[in-house]
Amino acid sequence: MKILAGSTNTPLALSIAEKLGEKLSPLEIFIFPDGEKRVRIEDQIAGEDVVIIQPTSSPADNSYMELFFITDAAKRSGAKTITAVIPYLGYQRQDHVFRSGEAVSLEVIAGVLKMVGVNYLITFDLHSIKIPEVFQIPVFHLSALSLFADELKKKGWDKEDCVLVSPDMGGIRRIKLFSEMLNNMPFAVINKNRNLSSGEVEAVGIEGEVAKRAVIVDDMISSGNTIIKAAQLLYSKGASEIIVFATHAVLSIDAPQNLQNSQVSEIYVSDTVFIPENKYFQKMKVLSIADITARTIKENILHQA
Ligand code: R5P
Repeated sequence: MKILAGSTNTPLALSIAEKLGEKLSPLEIFIFPDGEKRVRIEDQIAGEDVVIIQPTSSPADNSYMELFFITDAAKRSGAKTITAVIPYLGYQRQDHVFRSGEAVSLEVIAGVLKMVGVNYLITFDLHSIKIPEVFQIPVFHLSALSLFADELKKKGWDKEDCVLVSPDMGGIRRIKLFSEMLNNMPFAVINKNRNLSSGEVEAVGIEGEVAKRAVIVDDMISSGNTIIKAAQLLYSKGASEIIVFATHAVLSIDAPQNLQNSQVSEIYVSDTVFIPENKYFQKMKVLSIADITARTIKENILHQA
C-alpha cells in the first residue's frame, strides 16, 4: 500500500498513515506564479493499492483540482487500485436541482472522480444519505457519531434530563441513529427555514419535548447560524445547558467568534477539515476520525483489492 496526501489536511493524513503503520509517500506539488499546480509522485507505486487523502474543504475548487491531479498521476504511474479518502466532501450541498436552471455540482464531482481513476471513496457524514447513489464507484460512508456518543456517555448525560436535537428536518435520520446509539435517548427536531438567496436561517419551531439539557447534532458548521438559532430556540423553550456535536468544522468567516459568544457551552467537532490556529476557540473540542478511517482501509479496501 502507498499513501499520498494532498495539501488540505496534513495532520490528519499523517495520523491515518501512522495508524496503518505506513509513511506518506513523497509528492511534489509545484505552484506556478499564477496559482496553477503541477503534481508529481516521487515514489514507485506501480502495482500498489494507493490511498489518497484529501478533504475537499475551502477553497473547494483548489482542493479538488489537486486531488484530480494526484489521482491522475497515480493512475499513470500504474497504481493497482486508487482509494480517495475525502473526509469532508466539498460541493455535496448541491446534490439535486432545487430551482430550475441550477447545476448539480455533486454529479459533476462524482463523474470527474471516476473519470480520473478513483476506484473507492471513503467519506464522512454526508449531508444526505442518498449522496452515495450519485457515485458509480463503491462509497464507504462513515460517521463520527460513534465518537460523539462516547463523549456523551463520558459526560454521564442520560435520558432522564437530556434531549438530542436535530437543528433541521434534513437531520432526522442522523438524530434517530444517534438516539439508538444512546439507548434510545429522546430526540426533537427543529423546523428550520433558510432563505436560498440570502442564506439567512430561522428556527421556526420544534417537534418534540425540550429537556434541561439539549444536545444539538449536525453534519457541519459553516456560518454557525443554524446552531446559534437552534440554541436560542432551545433556551426559549426551557433548556439551560446546550452542547453541540458536528462532524465538519467548516467555520466560515466569523463563525468561531459567534459560536464562542453563543448560548452553547461546548462544541465538539472532528478533524475531517483542517482547522487553522486562528479558527480555534475555547468552547470547541476536536475529536479525530483517523482511527475509524484507518480501520476501514485495513478491513475493506485492502481486503477487496
Ligand atoms: C444544512 O442543512 C446542514 O445540515 C447544516 O445545518 C448547515 O450546512 C450548517 O450551515 P450554517 O452553519 O451555515 O448554518
